[in-house]
Amino acid sequence: MKILAFAASNSKTSINKQFVTYATSVFKSDYKPDAEIEILDLADYELPFYRPDREEEDGVPPKAKEFYDKIGAADALIISFAEHNGFYTAAYKNLFDWMSRMTKEVFQGKPAVLLSASPGKGGAGNVLKTAIGSAGFFGMDVKASLSLPNFYDNFDTEKGILTDKETEEKLRTALQTLL
Ligand SMILES: Cc1cc2nc3c(=O)[nH]c(=O)nc-3n(C[C@H](O)[C@H](O)[C@H](O)COP(=O)(O)O)c2cc1C
Repeated sequence: MKILAFAASNSKTSINKQFVTYATSVFKSDYKPDAEIEILDLADYELPFYRPDREEEDGVPPKAKEFYDKIGAADALIISFAEHNGFYTAAYKNLFDWMSRMTKEVFQGKPAVLLSASPGKGGAGNVLKTAIGSAGFFGMDVKASLSLPNFYDNFDTEKGILTDKETEEKLRTALQTLL
């Protein structure tokens, strides 16, 4: 089973990347030791801003096609969303917009667990809700979701693990839906 995971953030110190990386390690150790895990970094997929005339001139950038193909090659997705002003980060939205120019089935029918994290009490819940709300339209089969508020109180950034037992249990339950 191939799992593709990424944080919808291009921050080099992304808390969502830490969270999603931990989620993949739990999935592998608790459920599928032979799972093949690939974790992508959005910083490696920086693209020019989407512009209709740019698309007409140059087409969809190869990096957007590459990301789309990575999704296509996976059996399941684990994504953790960062929230900027209640919505997707610009880096993710731009990549998503470019991919959506190939087909609206951006996620190619893949099952997915959607996560989100923020340092505040909202846990990036707004962007998570947005992602879940539109998932079906873009060909994503959302199996479960989990928002992590107060990240620095609930996650040990040195060890890279969740410290809150209740959240840990919810994460396990969410990940189990991918089996
Ligand atoms: C421009 C900007 C807007 C933000 N807006 C929100 C927000 O609407 N809700 C929220 O929970 N956190 C917000 N934050 C704080 C982010 O949750 C925090 O920076 C978090 O670390 C982002 O996730 P990441 O580290 O995975 O990139 C914002 C941060 C920035 C820089």
